[in-house]
Amino acid sequence: MKNEAMTSDHRTVGASGSMPPTMAKVNGLPPWAGSAWPTESTFHQLAPYIGKTKSTMAAALIREYAKPGDVVCDPFSGCGTFALEAWIAGCHVVANDLSPYAHLLTRAKLFPYESSDDALTDLAAVAKSVARRRARPDLRTVPRWIRDFFHPDTLKEILVWTDVLLTQERWFLLACLMGILHHQRPGFLSFPSSHTVPYLRVKKFPRQQFPNLYAYRSILDRLEAKVTRAFRREPKLKFALQRHCFSTPAQKLKLARSVDLIITSPPYMRQLDYGRDNRLRLWFLGCKDWHSLDDVVSPDQESFLALMDRCFARWHKSLKPRGHCVLVIGDQCSREDRSDLPDAVTQIALKERRFSLVSSYADTIPNERRVRRGITGSTSETVLVLRRAPERGTRRA
Ligand SMILES: C[S@@+](CC[C@H](N)C(=O)[O-])C[C@H]1O[C@@H](n2cnc3c(N)ncnc32)[C@H](O)[C@@H]1O
Repeated sequence: MKNEAMTSDHRTVGASGSMPPTMAKVNGLPPWAGSAWPTESTFHQLAPYIGKTKSTMAAALIREYAKPGDVVCDPFSGCGTFALEAWIAGCHVVANDLSPYAHLLTRAKLFPYESSDDALTDLAAVAKSVARRRARPDLRTVPRWIRDFFHPDTLKEILVWTDVLLTQERWFLLACLMGILHHQRPGFLSFPSSHTVPYLRVKKFPRQQFPNLYAYRSILDRLEAKVTRAFRREPKLKFALQRHCFSTPAQKLKLARSVDLIITSPPYMRQLDYGRDNRLRLWFLGCKDWHSLDDVVSPDQESFLALMDRCFARWHKSLKPRGHCVLVIGDQCSREDRSDLPDAVTQIALKERRFSLVSSYADTIPNERRVRRGITGSTSETVLVLRRAPERGTRRA
């Protein structure tokens, strides 16, 4: 990785302290610098998710602001990076995301099989249910843009598999299926296409030149291989710890018990379109209208700031006094407006003295990690550490 892409700085937007020593730069780089891919738990790699937080950053922040036995909540959990790292760190976890695809991935990571043997045995049982299904799907009811991605026989099988996995609530296996849904590699199910955001690559790989990329793809063997890959670096997990996973508007998420840490990365202000960018996987999960989903989960600037206001009010109620709220946020307000998003969010948090600012740490996003390279994507993200104000009348320790 290039050095200039990894610069970070401590900012002091009214902060009462700097980042703690564990967050200090190592050789000028943050502790999460470099690729997480070769070392992170392979559960993080079940399926791609646009705007995913780096797992090593999530792990470092959780180590700093939570201890084993704490209740950690991520109200905008995306694919469940903070949720899984909090569980690995020995915490009870509450996670939530409104997108059905994000909810599936978080659920899969919080409720996995205890071993690869268990997963493969269950996969074999599900395969029997799939084989017993007599009715074959009628592809005339499937929109053209979906059919364009698959060989018709593969598509029919995917439809049966998703239906059985949804009906039998096999979230981990369904997440694995979504993880191999599209790409051009042999272990995937679609015609040649990109992996994260679904774009066909038929110009790069013309059918006449690459006929094998357009052939039927069997599912069970590819799913077995995917499940086996998922357990390659299986995390050590305590299954007795509590895990809850919701799919409700974050601003309405009521928590039954007091939370020690809220740690999350809220939506990036229309810079990422969580509906549009996941439209193919969402369709298979029953969400046929990604436009309406984006109206909610990819809010514009005004709606985003209103959302944060409602969230801070709720988080103030659910956090224990002096509990931390750690937010990882993109720096630009929107594609049009270049004003400072972390500052705007900080001002909302400080309103009515609900929270105080502990620190604000800006970390440049290297170009290779940018979702939209070049002109429009976030160029940096800020780790904003806030502390819930103590109850009135409580003296500072
Ligand atoms: C930046 S992403 C979270 C990324 C996550 N940390 C990860 O590693 O994947 C923000 C998430 O907020 C979700 N979201 C947006 N608005 C929401 C709302 N009002 N309630 C719940 N979830 C929402 C989106 O679906 C998206 O998954």
